[in-house]
Amino acid sequence: MENEFLSVPFGYTPVWAEKDKYNVKNPPSDDKKPLRLGLVGLGGVALGKHLPAIRRLQETGFPIRVVAGADIDETVRSKTQRLHHLPCYADFREMFDKEGLDAVEVLTEPGESRLRVLREAVDRDLHLFVEKPFLFFGVKRLDESIACARQIVERARAKRLVVMTGFVKHFSPPYMVAKRLMEAGAIGTPALVAVKMCQGWSRHILLEGQACHLLHVALWLAGPIARLHAFGVNRFAEPNYPYDNIVVNVEYASEAIGTFYFNSSSPSLKPWERLEVFGERKWLAVEDGISVTLHDSEEGPSKSYSPVMPHTLFFDEEFSGFAGEIRAFAEAVQARREAPVTGEDGIHALVLARMIHASIEERRSVSWSEVAG
Ligand SMILES: NC(=O)c1ccc[n+]([C@@H]2O[C@H](COP(=O)([O-])OP(=O)(O)OC[C@H]3O[C@@H](n4cnc5c(N)ncnc54)[C@H](O)[C@@H]3O)[C@@H](O)[C@H]2O)c1
Repeated sequence: MENEFLSVPFGYTPVWAEKDKYNVKNPPSDDKKPLRLGLVGLGGVALGKHLPAIRRLQETGFPIRVVAGADIDETVRSKTQRLHHLPCYADFREMFDKEGLDAVEVLTEPGESRLRVLREAVDRDLHLFVEKPFLFFGVKRLDESIACARQIVERARAKRLVVMTGFVKHFSPPYMVAKRLMEAGAIGTPALVAVKMCQGWSRHILLEGQACHLLHVALWLAGPIARLHAFGVNRFAEPNYPYDNIVVNVEYASEAIGTFYFNSSSPSLKPWERLEVFGERKWLAVEDGISVTLHDSEEGPSKSYSPVMPHTLFFDEEFSGFAGEIRAFAEAVQARREAPVTGEDGIHALVLARMIHASIEERRSVSWSEVAG
């Protein structure tokens, strides 16, 4: 296990390590024509994360091209035009009509206007990357959000379109290392999974908008959840969400048990997240999405992995997983295969959130089958 850990069998080639894969002397072959991508929504995540991550991929020669963007806000459009020299449309339909896109990244807020974008994109046979949460019309309309998300995913599946949800931690190297270690049996059978996400961004929607990242990580690493029991309080009168502190006890289908604790009332400085998975006399922890530590012997030493800082300023694009997730989406589209994080994965995180709300409100355990059907 020591060697396996040290050789990090985590199946992720950092983007910077591919810088020589394609270059002027070795351009991508014709079957790797750049993916023609359009962005709908040019706000914080588009300008701060996606465009820099795509630039990073392009630097390595990865065949992807952002052809155009669309945003309803004139200020945002002119900023994007100025900074990124992108044609920008006020109406996403016009972009769909004119730009001959292969795929679209939907980076708007997750409400009803996003649903219109998704429907139109599927009608036009565009592959979809959808930022989390897949759809969210508010806590009181979570069932409706889930039902609409299902319709989109089913229509896209019938047309054999790739649909990917933007759960970026799936591509963050430390979480990938943890997954590989678990698959390699490094901690034996997982018995207890503890997940924390506490960050004081009170403007955000606690479960569906923020903790959904860790809800996805829990399902990805520990498998389906059979039932849960949750408690929630709004201790500091958070105005935008029913709860600012939530704790959940979980039973996985595998018979592992676990806990989630989430809040939006702590300082918004890191560290804000932690994962611990306990097996038989061995356990591992992912600290703040930055490092993994494996404790697999009473005598020690523990073994730890943290990514080597690349010689680049793009740490966040790499290690938060943005470059990896966009590359995975483009590769899935090029190969016409399922994305590693699907539309269904986006729906599953919403189902978990719905279970948690129901459990808090009704003061009882809630099973997956009650909500997911
Ligand atoms: N993966 C992550 O870590 C991460 C980080 C931040 C945000 N996000 C997600 O990304 C999404 C966007 O978040 P943000 O912070 O960039 O929001 P934002 O408000 O900064 O940007 C959204 C943009 O979409 C535009 N828009 C809204 N409706 C539109 C429409 N019909 N057509 C075209 N443009 C439209 C708005 O004008 C705005 O510029 C959310 O779902 C959020 O949860 C993910």
